[in-house]
Amino acid sequence: MSAQGLLAGKTAIVAGGGGAGIGARISRLLAGAGASVAVVDIEPDRATDVCAQIEAAGGAALPVTADLRDASAAPAILDATLGAFGQVDALVNVAGGMHAHAPWRPLVRWQVDDWDRIVEINLRYVFLMCRAVIPAMIERGAGGSIVNITSISGVFGAPNHSAYGAAKAGLIHLTKSLCLECGPHGIRCNAVSPGAVQTAAVSGAMDEQLEAVRRATPLGRAGSPDDIAQAVLFFASPMSAYVSGQMLLVDGGVAARFPLGTPEPADGQ
Ligand SMILES: NC(=O)c1ccc[n+]([C@@H]2O[C@H](COP(=O)([O-])OP(=O)(O)OC[C@H]3O[C@@H](n4cnc5c(N)ncnc54)[C@H](O)[C@@H]3O)[C@@H](O)[C@H]2O)c1
Repeated sequence: MSAQGLLAGKTAIVAGGGGAGIGARISRLLAGAGASVAVVDIEPDRATDVCAQIEAAGGAALPVTADLRDASAAPAILDATLGAFGQVDALVNVAGGMHAHAPWRPLVRWQVDDWDRIVEINLRYVFLMCRAVIPAMIERGAGGSIVNITSISGVFGAPNHSAYGAAKAGLIHLTKSLCLECGPHGIRCNAVSPGAVQTAAVSGAMDEQLEAVRRATPLGRAGSPDDIAQAVLFFASPMSAYVSGQMLLVDGGVAARFPLGTPEPADGQ
């Protein structure tokens, strides 16, 4: 699908926009749609690599190295973005996850530090970014769009998922509260909840599960970073001008399934 020009003249911050996964794909797709993109990553090379790809394709990008968990990072990211591009129209909070931060395990075996780390990188930093960026959007008076990347784990309970699931569920709630607080300023806030997405970061874990994912997914495959990025583009762009407070599952249809089994047809057909 061509998105060219959809975000012409707009600026987006992608928090966790470097690397080779969902965040990088979002950065490149928003830039391809015409947005100037501030690519924020804790790893300098990841941010600069994605910015180089954007610039090679004719777009505008600013690499910003920051640890999103640090409370002083969000105002600095905003300042850098305003300094380079003069405005912020969209904020996409994509950094997050589980594998890189703590092992999956039952709640009774969680250490406090691990729990805090998961909440910090999946929920707390989004509060910090929104607290910094929303006043700038309000002051400019041109509205805006905030898109939070949550997870199907924030919608369904699962063993070993308590910290990650609770953080992502909290992010869905935060999205709805912000919709109400920011709506009068023309600022929309929505969430995208991926199902299983095949990225380099999860490839080892997912290889074992891939067959199970295919069986559980009506569309018969794991998602791609592009599947998630397309949904983010919808929420970041005027295509969703009257959509706020929504949580869109991008899961290949997984959540549509009735969980208590499928009854046999009465006539045996
Ligand atoms: N991959 C999946 O199957 C899946 C499924 C559901 C939800 N999600 C969610 O999608 C999002 C992206 O996942 P992904 O695996 O594609 O990640 P990704 O590869 O897009 O990683 C994002 C980037 O964030 C950066 N980052 C990490 N910690 C940071 C910090 N403290 N400060 C600044 N930058 C930091 C990383 O360096 C990385 O480059 C996450 O929020 C994850 O929870 C992923």
